[in-house]
Amino acid sequence: MSKAVSDPVSNPASNPASAPSSAPSSDRPDVARLTEAAAAAEIAELAGMIADANRAYHGEDAPEITDAEYDALKRRLQAIEARFPALKRPDSPTEAIGAAPSGTFAKVRHAVRMLSLENAFDDEEIAKFDERIRLYLGLGPEAPLWFTAEPKIDGLSLSLRYEGGKLVQAATRGDGEIGENVTANARTVADIPELLTPEAEPPAVLEVRGEVYMSHADFEALNTQQAAAGGKRFANPRNAAAGSLRQLDAGVTAARPLRFFAYAWGEMSAPLAATQSAAIARLKALGFSTNGLTERCDGPSALLAAYRRIEQKRATLGYDIDGVVYKVDDLALQARLGFRSTTPRWAIAHKFPAELAWTRLEAIDIQVGRTGALSPVARLAPVTVGGVVVSNATLHNEDYIAGRSASGEAIRDGKDLRPGDWVQVKRAGDVIPKVVDVDLARRPAGTTPFDFPQCCPECGSPAEREEGDAVRRCTGGLICPAQAVEKLKHFVSRAAFDIDGLGARQIEMFFADPDLGIRDPADIFTLAARDAANLGKLRNRDGFGDRSAGNLFRAIEERRRIGLGRLIFALGIRHVGEVAAQDLARHYGSWEALVAALDSARPAALAHRAADAAEAQERRAAAAEGRRARIAEVRGAAIAAAAPSPDATAAWDDLTGADGIGPVLALSLSDSLANPRERAAIDRLTEMLVIEPPEARATASPVAGKTVVFTGTLEKMTRAEAKARAEALGAKVAGSVSARTDLLVAGPGAGSKAREAARLGIETIDEDAWLRLIGG
Ligand code: IVH
Repeated sequence: MSKAVSDPVSNPASNPASAPSSAPSSDRPDVARLTEAAAAAEIAELAGMIADANRAYHGEDAPEITDAEYDALKRRLQAIEARFPALKRPDSPTEAIGAAPSGTFAKVRHAVRMLSLENAFDDEEIAKFDERIRLYLGLGPEAPLWFTAEPKIDGLSLSLRYEGGKLVQAATRGDGEIGENVTANARTVADIPELLTPEAEPPAVLEVRGEVYMSHADFEALNTQQAAAGGKRFANPRNAAAGSLRQLDAGVTAARPLRFFAYAWGEMSAPLAATQSAAIARLKALGFSTNGLTERCDGPSALLAAYRRIEQKRATLGYDIDGVVYKVDDLALQARLGFRSTTPRWAIAHKFPAELAWTRLEAIDIQVGRTGALSPVARLAPVTVGGVVVSNATLHNEDYIAGRSASGEAIRDGKDLRPGDWVQVKRAGDVIPKVVDVDLARRPAGTTPFDFPQCCPECGSPAEREEGDAVRRCTGGLICPAQAVEKLKHFVSRAAFDIDGLGARQIEMFFADPDLGIRDPADIFTLAARDAANLGKLRNRDGFGDRSAGNLFRAIEERRRIGLGRLIFALGIRHVGEVAAQDLARHYGSWEALVAALDSARPAALAHRAADAAEAQERRAAAAEGRRARIAEVRGAAIAAAAPSPDATAAWDDLTGADGIGPVLALSLSDSLANPRERAAIDRLTEMLVIEPPEARATASPVAGKTVVFTGTLEKMTRAEAKARAEALGAKVAGSVSARTDLLVAGPGAGSKAREAARLGIETIDEDAWLRLIGG
C-alpha cells in the first residue's frame, strides 16, 4: 500500500535510503571538456535525476539520495548550464522557486483546527446520525432539520488564508493543528484565486478550506510523461496530487495539473452566510470552484437519495471521490453542535462500499506490536483492489484465522485460513485491507490448519491470552525487542513527541545499531551528549552528515519541553489513546500529581483485578450450573479480602470517576507504572523533560478548572450538549459526586447524587443558575 501522504517532511539526509540507484558518479568528465551534444544529454539526465529525487523525497516520502548527492547533482547542472547557456531549459531545476530541498516546509499553526470526519458505511448509520443530532439539540423527530450532501473528494485538504482579499498563506492539514506552509506551491494552482472577487465583498480575514486533487485524465497524462522520462509512476491520483503539492520546488508543482474544490472555512472576520449552502454559494461568488453536485436535503431519506445519485455519477465524474459528505445546513446549529476531539458532530462522511478482489494467500507472518499483541499479517500475491496494489492484509488475530471466535461463533461460516488458500481481500478507503473470505473449493491438497505461535517470534517469551481478549500477547515487555522498538516509534510519532527528522525508519535504524544505544525513550534525549563525548557517533552513518546530525539534535532539544497530555500518550500504554491522555492531563494537572495518585491507588487497583478474576470465575461457574451469577457479591468479597486502605480506594475512585477514564484503562495505567522495568524507564525520561501543564480550555470562564456533575432532567439543553459546553469552557465533567466535585447542576428528579452533594457540602445549583453562570 502507498504511504500516508501526510507524513511530516523530514530532512532527506536524516532519511537514509536504500542504495541510491541514480547517485551522481564521481567519474563524470570535466565540464570544460564536454561537447555541446554531451552537455545537452547530461542536462536532460541531471534534470531527470533531480526530478526523481524530488519525487522520491517529497512525493513518496522515500528519499533515494543524500543531501550531499542532491547538492552535487545541482552544482554539476549549474556548471554545465553556465558553460552552455543556450542549452539551459526554461524549467531547469536550478531556476526553481524556493531553495534546495535540504530544509523542510515551514510549520504553520492553524488559527482554527483542521478536523477530519466521522465515517459511516451504511444507511442505518445515517438514520442514527440524524437521531443523534436531534437528541443533542433536543429537537423532536418532526422538527425540520436540513442538511447538505456533497461528494467527498479523494485528494488532500488545504487551508488558504486571505487577508484584505489577497492570498497570504496556504497550509496543508498536517496533524490538524500544525500544517506545512505550501503558499508558493498553492499559488501555482489555477483554481486557487490570488485575489478574491471584490464585488462579492470578501471578509477582511477569510480562511477557505477545500481539497486539492488531480483529474483522471491529468493523472494518466502525468504518469505517461513520467514513464517516458524514466521516472516512477504514481499509484493513484491522490498520491500524485499530494506528491505534486508537497514539493519544496514550486516550479515542479507549477508543471502539475492540480485542481481545488472549496467546501469549508476556518478563521474569518465576518460570517459568510447563515447556512452551509449559502456559504458555499458565497465562496463561489468569491472566485472558488465549488462542487456542482452539492444538494440541500431535508432528512435521511433525501440524503440517501442524493448519495445514490452521486454514486451513479461516480464513474463519469473524471476525478476520484470516495463517498458523500453530509453537513447540517444551519450554521447556528453547527455552532451549537460543535466538535468532538477530532471530528465535528454536525457532519459525517458516508463512504462508498469497499472494493473486493480474490488472490492467493502466500504466507501468514506474525508481527509483534507496541503492547505485545501478536498480529497475523497475510502476505498476498499482489492484486489490484480499487486501483491500489495490495500485497499485505490484516488477519486480526488467531481466532480470525481459525474461523471461530473465543465464544464459539463462526467467522466466515467457520472456514479457516491456510497458506496456499485463495482468499478475498477487501479495501475500504484508507482502511488497512482485510481478508474477508476463502474459497475452499480451490484449497490445495495436503494443507493443515495454521499453527498460531504460543511464544513470541521475536523474543521467545510465552505469548498469552487474557480472559476475554482475542489477542495473544508477548509477555516479554520491554525485554522484547519488537515491543521496545514499536514503543519507540510510537514515542516519536506525530501525536506524541513528533521529533522532526526522527521517524519510524530512523528509529529502526538506530535501534538496530548497538553503538547508538537507543533502547528507551530517555536514550533519545542523551543522544547529543553521547555523540559529543564520541560515544556512538551519529555522523558518517548512512545518510547522516554534520548538518543533519546537528538538525536532529536541535529537533530533539526542542522537544525537551512537552505538554503533559502528549507525554502521557507518548508512553504508549495500552488503552491510553490521545483523548484519554488529554483527559488524564486535565484531571491531574501535573505529572507529579498523576504519579502520586497512581501510586496511592495501586492497592485498590490490585483489589479490582482480583475482583475481575473472581467475577469471571463466577460467570463460568454460574453458566455451568445454569444459575444467575452473583456478580456484586463475589466482587464485594474479593475487594474486602484485598482490603485496600480508604486512601487507596479514594484515589482509585477518583481515577475511574474522571471523565473518559474507565476501569480497564485505569488498570492498564496502574500496571505500567507499577512495573519496575517500565517505571525506571519512565522516571529516567521524565527527569530529563520540562513537562508543561495542560492549558485550561478557556481560562476566562468562571467554571474553568472546576469539576461539575450534572444530574436530574435538564430542560434547556440535552445532557450531551451541557457536557460539551461545560468542557469547552474548561470545566471537567464527572459522572459521580465525590469530594473533588466543585459544583452539582441538578434538574428536576435529582436523587442520590443531590443527597451525596448535600452530605459533602458541595454547592448545588439548578439549570437556570448554571446558564446564568456560563453566560447563556
Ligand atoms: S468537510 C470539519 N467536505 O475528507 C470538517 N471534507 O475524511 C471539514 N474531504 O479532512 C471537512 N471532501 O480532507 C469536507 N466535501 C468535503 C470533503 C472533505 C473531501 C476530506 C477532507 C477531510 C477528510 C475527512
